[in-house]
Parts: sequence; C-alpha cells; structure tokens
Amino acid sequence: MADKNFSRRNFIGLTGLAGAGLALSGNPLMAAEAPSTVMQTSRKFKMGLVGCGNRCRQIVDELNSVQEIEMTAFCDVIPHKMKLRADQVKTGVTPRLVEKVDDLLKMPELDCIAILTANDLHRDITIAALEAGKHVWCEKPMALTVAECNDIIGAVGRTGKLLQIGHQRRHSAREKGLVDAIRNKSLGQVLQSSLFDYRGDWRVPAADEFPPGTTYWRLIQKLSGGVVYEMGAHIIDVNNWVVDSEPVSISSLQGVNNFTLRKRDSSDYAGVLVEYANGSMMNYGGNVYSYGARAYDTWFCVNGTVQIGEGTLSIRYGLPPGVPTQTTRPENEDIPLRSFQGASGESEQFRHFAKAMDGKEKPYPDAFMGRRCVQILEGSLWAAAQRRVIDVRELG
Ligand SMILES: NC(=O)c1ccc[n+]([C@@H]2O[C@H](COP(=O)([O-])OP(=O)(O)OC[C@H]3O[C@@H](n4cnc5c(N)ncnc54)[C@H](O)[C@@H]3O)[C@@H](O)[C@H]2O)c1
Repeated sequence: MADKNFSRRNFIGLTGLAGAGLALSGNPLMAAEAPSTVMQTSRKFKMGLVGCGNRCRQIVDELNSVQEIEMTAFCDVIPHKMKLRADQVKTGVTPRLVEKVDDLLKMPELDCIAILTANDLHRDITIAALEAGKHVWCEKPMALTVAECNDIIGAVGRTGKLLQIGHQRRHSAREKGLVDAIRNKSLGQVLQSSLFDYRGDWRVPAADEFPPGTTYWRLIQKLSGGVVYEMGAHIIDVNNWVVDSEPVSISSLQGVNNFTLRKRDSSDYAGVLVEYANGSMMNYGGNVYSYGARAYDTWFCVNGTVQIGEGTLSIRYGLPPGVPTQTTRPENEDIPLRSFQGASGESEQFRHFAKAMDGKEKPYPDAFMGRRCVQILEGSLWAAAQRRVIDVRELG
C-alpha cells in the first residue's frame, strides 16, 4: 500500500525546517452523542459569563438547553448588554450583573467562567479566572500568540483548574463523521487538505452594540488577529484534529482589501500553507468579500478523497495510474450531512465541560489543542508580515 511508505515529503522551498522532536499527539475520536434530556453530572455547575456581545447571545440560547450549567452571572463593560443576555435566560436563578471582571471572580459561588470577549482579552481574563480558583471555558482562539498560550498553560498547571477551548466543531456530529470517515474508511494518510472560508462581510454590529467611545475590536488587527483568527481558526482546528500531527512550518500572504462596509485594519483576506510533522499539507484560503461563490473543504488521502459541500460528505476512492489497484476497493459514498443527527457541537461542548468539572471527562479540546491552532494563526501573521516561511519552533 502506498501509505506504508509514506514519509515526510520534501516541500519545495521548505526543506531544512524539519520539526524534529515534535511529538505526534493523539486526539480522541469521540462517538457522536445524542443530546440528553437527563442531567449527566452529579450537580449543576454555576457559570459566570464575561463578554455579553453577539457570541454570548448565541451561547445563552445554547446554555438554556444545558441542564448541567446554570448561568449565574453576566459581566460586561457595557451594562445594557448584560441586561439583554440576562433577559434571554429561561431557567434557573435571575443572573447577577457585574461590570468588573474582578468582582465577578470574587463571587465564591461560581464554579466556572466562560470568556466571550474580544481575542486580545482572552489571556488575561483566563489567567485571572484560573488564579481565582475557577474552571474556564474560553472562546476560540485560545489567545493571540503562542507566548500567551504558554502563559495560560502555566496557569492551568499552577492552579490545577480546568481549561476547555470553544472550538465547538470538536463536538459536532458532522465533524465527528468526517474524522470517522478519514480514520476508519481505508482512506489512508491525509496528504493534503484544501480548506476555505470565502464569505460575505463579517457582521456589522447594531449601533447600540458599540456606543460612541468603544471600539469594534474585530476591525482592528492587534485586537482580533484578522481573518485567519476570526474565521480560519474553526476549520484549522478541525484540520489539526483530522491530520493528528503537529504543524512544523507555515507560509502565508494576507492583508486588507477593505471592500467592506467599515474601515478596517484587520486582514480581510488570507492564504495559508501549513506543513505538518507527518508530511501532510494544509492549504487554507479566507476572505470576507465572497458574495455567492462556493468552495468545498477537501481532504486528499492516499486511497481517496473526502469532501464536504452541498449538504453532503462525499467519499471517493481511487489510486493514481500505475499504483496496483486494490482488489476490494470500497464503494464510493455520499453521506447526507443531515444524517449526522442533531449536534452542532454548540451545546455539546458545554455538556462536556460540565462533565469535566464533575471529574467524568477531560476538557476537550484542551489548552494544548488550542495552542496548536494558535501556532498556525500566529505563524501565518509572521509569515505574511515577514514574507518568509516560519518554523513553528520560532514562535516559542
Ligand atoms: N466559536 C464561534 O463560532 C465564535 C463565533 C463568533 C465569535 N467567537 C469568539 O467570541 C468572542 C466574542 O466575539 P463577539 O462576536 O461576541 O464579540 P462582541 O464584540 O460582540 O462581544 C464582546 C463583548 O465583550 C465586552 N467586553 C469588552 N471588554 C470587556 C471587559 N474588560 N470585561 C467584560 N466585557 C468586556 C464588549 O463590551 C462586548 O459586549 C471572540 O473571541 C470571537 O472570536 C466565536
């Protein structure tokens, strides 16, 4: 079989950047769970949510169906946003509204903190919360830089508290179906992946979301990291899971075309190439000015191809001419994505976090998985700014 001889290939222009010493690490492939109506923990865990913006609105809707977690308090520097989120809560106590993170962290009854602020605040709030004795669920990206991730990992080690990163696709039935196909359907090693986020403009917030004097962080590069952090982080984390190897080198072009409704200095287009320790290559493209054009995420493996698009997970088997044909080649498959029952991963990630707090699971995805994604995000910024290939070890 071709994949038996598969070894790290030479990438033109990327030789000499071997990722020696970077160990492969296993990611659990979890079976898709049907959302349960029965509480799966020994008690309810009390959560304080920091950052009551757009993402928090979505998360509160999800948490309304998660019996294992009670939304006990909300925190935001813009008071009316806390009120909006509190009004959405359908179960449990009336949440307390707290303007300062420090005051939230002093609430002894809170078991955990959910961090839903801009990306540049993830590091400081995560560390403060861990040091206040709280478990933390933090939105993606884990932080802006690998150095920040290392600081956070240090705090997890010091405090013994749990940290789970909000890459919700790790809990989505659809992505579990994808990983299952690649792991268990004779496709062999992933050679190359071709992944895209070509979308219309990022959401333009309503006037009261960012009153005069407050910045819309998403449009500012040093607060958001730009398009690869904002959109790319999702599929890049999925690819890290699928490929199950460490990124070793990154090249990228990205910048600001500014064909959008608001003036920005955060990147709005990017191309990123990643080489993994096991030889797999990822090609990511993202922009915020695609009005209708479509591209499908594709994983090219030794024995076939997996593609997600048009509501279907397509598996096509084949080998190049000259490679001995398998005698029993599996049938091609088109699996409707709707058959991956229910779970988007949004509420499942919180059920999982609650089970972790209950000692029944480990946080997933954990801080090391969060950092692996940030290695690619930050590496892509360095590569684009410095016009050179970045060895991941340079990032610290
Ligand atoms: N996983 C996903 O699918 C997904 C989707 C969207 C956004 N996100 C992530 O969620 C996070 C928030 O994104 P958003 O779209 O909700 O942004 P947003 O700007 O709508 O909300 C952020 C909120 O944080 C508040 N805030 C700012 N500084 C604060 C402070 N010091 N203390 C308390 N609150 C403070 C702001 O007032 C605002 O209400 C980002 O990290 C983003 O990357 C994830």
